Amino acid sequence: MAKPRKTSRAKDKPANVVPAVDAAILEAADRLRDGALVAFPTETVYGLGGDATDDRAVAAIFEAKGRPSFNPLIVHLPSLKKAEAGAAFDDRARSAAARFWPGPLTLVLPRAPDCPVSLLASAGLDTIAVRVPGHPVAHALLNAVDRPIAAPSANRSGAVSPTRAAHVAEDLGDAVALILDGGACPVGIESTVLDLSGSSPTLLRPGAVTAEVIEAEIGALKIDDGGEGVRAPGQLKSHYAPKTPLRLGCEDPRPGEALLALGPDVPPDFAPVLNLSEAGDLTEAAANLFAHLHALDAAGAAGIATMPVPEEGLGRAINDRLRRAAAHD
Ligand code: TXA
Ligand code: MG
Repeated sequence: MAKPRKTSRAKDKPANVVPAVDAAILEAADRLRDGALVAFPTETVYGLGGDATDDRAVAAIFEAKGRPSFNPLIVHLPSLKKAEAGAAFDDRARSAAARFWPGPLTLVLPRAPDCPVSLLASAGLDTIAVRVPGHPVAHALLNAVDRPIAAPSANRSGAVSPTRAAHVAEDLGDAVALILDGGACPVGIESTVLDLSGSSPTLLRPGAVTAEVIEAEIGALKIDDGGEGVRAPGQLKSHYAPKTPLRLGCEDPRPGEALLALGPDVPPDFAPVLNLSEAGDLTEAAANLFAHLHALDAAGAAGIATMPVPEEGLGRAINDRLRRAAAHD
């Protein structure tokens, strides 16, 4: 059930949204150490953070998101060195971390023998997902709190991921103590998830660090296409779903349909139309994806059609999110 939100009358902005200045980051670190939940920007999407060593804080994350407890969380750290306290890095993992961290890559690794992170964050698995984000606010917060921070995307389970502080406030309201507003997330799509816990490296979720660049660093990858035996429990077929039905790869309007466009040649007779990138640039398209889905979902159209997105580079991650947004099972 939606909880009433506190709003400040002057700007109609929820009272728990604060600009991510230094003092606010320090306050957020204090709140996290006290076991509260704080939403913060990363380069990918906003995260709903809680102290990963505190079972109650981790349980509160699952509760606030309405997330199934079998779906493990990503643990965020300020450096590879700090990550090594919780996860067992082999040479492959070290070279991937050296090449891509800080940045939009999550590594699934065996839990270290003395891993201080709550087992609940790993959903009882013997692996742990770790990431060193590159966003300056996330980095400053992780340094200030000096504890591993579990942070799934700051949306209710199954909803579209937030790329603005306002998205978090709309979706989670005051289930979160503080929302650090660091503006729009530059990448706009969740991190690539790479499983290095077994003998064959497996891509569990496509993202801005593409399969091609990972393969150039560590060799051939298996791609988990969400089929049987799917190993990222969060990669359910239906996910990131707007309330308005989505039709993929369309250029023929149906009455009352909105359009998520890509490129300079936009077919007529859709309204409203939001363009992911008029230039057809996939990096710009990824950065706009969730904000445009949020906006079109709020526009009250009968449906949302999406133009085809090339299945290459970041286009794969965009298509992955669109397919999940369109799936209804
Ligand atoms: O960009 C991101 O990764 C954002 C920001 C906040 O860092 N976080 C995020 O978290 O997208 P979340 O919880 O929405 O997605 C985490 C994904 C899920 O698909 C989950 O199943 C998978 O990572 N995952 C986490 N731990 C895992 C593990 N031990 N083994 C396999 N998959 C795991
Ligand atoms: Mg998520």
